[in-house]
Amino acid sequence: MTGGTVERVNATATAHQPAFWCRTVPPFHRSTVPPLLILFLAGCNGTSSYMDATGVAGHEEATLGWWLTWVSCAVVLIICLLVLAGLAKHRGEDNNPAHDTTERTERRQIKSGLAWIYIGTGISLVILLVAFAGTMVTLEAASHPPRTPSLTIDVTGHQWWWEIQYSEVDHPELGFVTANEIHVPVGVPVRVRLHTADVIHSFWLPQLAGKTDIIPGQVNETWVEATRPGTSRGMCGEYCGMQHAMMAIAVTSESPAEFNRWTQERRAAAAPPVDAEAEAGRVVFARTCGACHTVGGTDALGRVGPDLTHVASRPMIGAGALPNTAANLTRWVHNAPGVKEGVRMPPMPLDANDLRAVVAYLQTLR
Ligand code: CUA
Repeated sequence: MTGGTVERVNATATAHQPAFWCRTVPPFHRSTVPPLLILFLAGCNGTSSYMDATGVAGHEEATLGWWLTWVSCAVVLIICLLVLAGLAKHRGEDNNPAHDTTERTERRQIKSGLAWIYIGTGISLVILLVAFAGTMVTLEAASHPPRTPSLTIDVTGHQWWWEIQYSEVDHPELGFVTANEIHVPVGVPVRVRLHTADVIHSFWLPQLAGKTDIIPGQVNETWVEATRPGTSRGMCGEYCGMQHAMMAIAVTSESPAEFNRWTQERRAAAAPPVDAEAEAGRVVFARTCGACHTVGGTDALGRVGPDLTHVASRPMIGAGALPNTAANLTRWVHNAPGVKEGVRMPPMPLDANDLRAVVAYLQTLR
């Protein structure tokens, strides 16, 4: 570990869990959102909301989203007012055709009704055309980054977790693999290549950019660029089986300096155990878990499950299933399907001492 920043970032995310998973509407929108809507939105997962964008493409999409929302609200409001006005105007009138047989009155009524249809059609056409143009402009802006990305990450969707590979074209030795967490430098466009190990998933960091589907047998590409630092929750946007909803990514946008520090830490091999219990845990881990999980710098080289080289510094375990604490790690290692039904990781038949040692070891993997 060469610096404490990432630990601090993750410690913050862990210590203030509501801030990570459920934040209220930011001040910018408080001025424009009616109080009742704020109450409603505050109940949602604010940091997953694409309407509260922190990315370049996300901002374009949020602008369109807010614009369409307000136009839709205005249309509903105007229609309601017109219906009420019409009701009020003709209240008490005798509209029974049997009482009014003159042809002239009938024709006048039909004509005035048609005028309203022409006006309504005209207004609708204008609104729809403007919305269409806005959608096209947004699609164009979101389809490619403003400049060529200098950083590429490969994301692989698994049932039900994310494998993330950072690589540098000129320096392959600087690459590293992590799981269920993405860090991006603010102000730098990042190319994201999308792969799947099994079924169709959809990569979605709602605050940063729209969804891109991940299709077996092909590599789809998207891009993200963060506009301000912060943490948010990414997710799978396409139903992919029982735990589709529990396939989260902890997203951290940070300054390029902090990002570089984080990548340096991620490149480092795991620190060797410092006490007897963690050392015992390392041995148990290599014997029981190493066939499925990698811990960099050790004999554990499995590629079936997430890379655990720096698992202790992640805010969550099980792709968002639980906060990363000793008690939750114990629950997870002992019986992962009991926490996340259907998960591929089987229950581990470890005795209490071995279980405690493995958890102690995992907690040293910062
Ligand atoms: Cu992966 Cu839904």
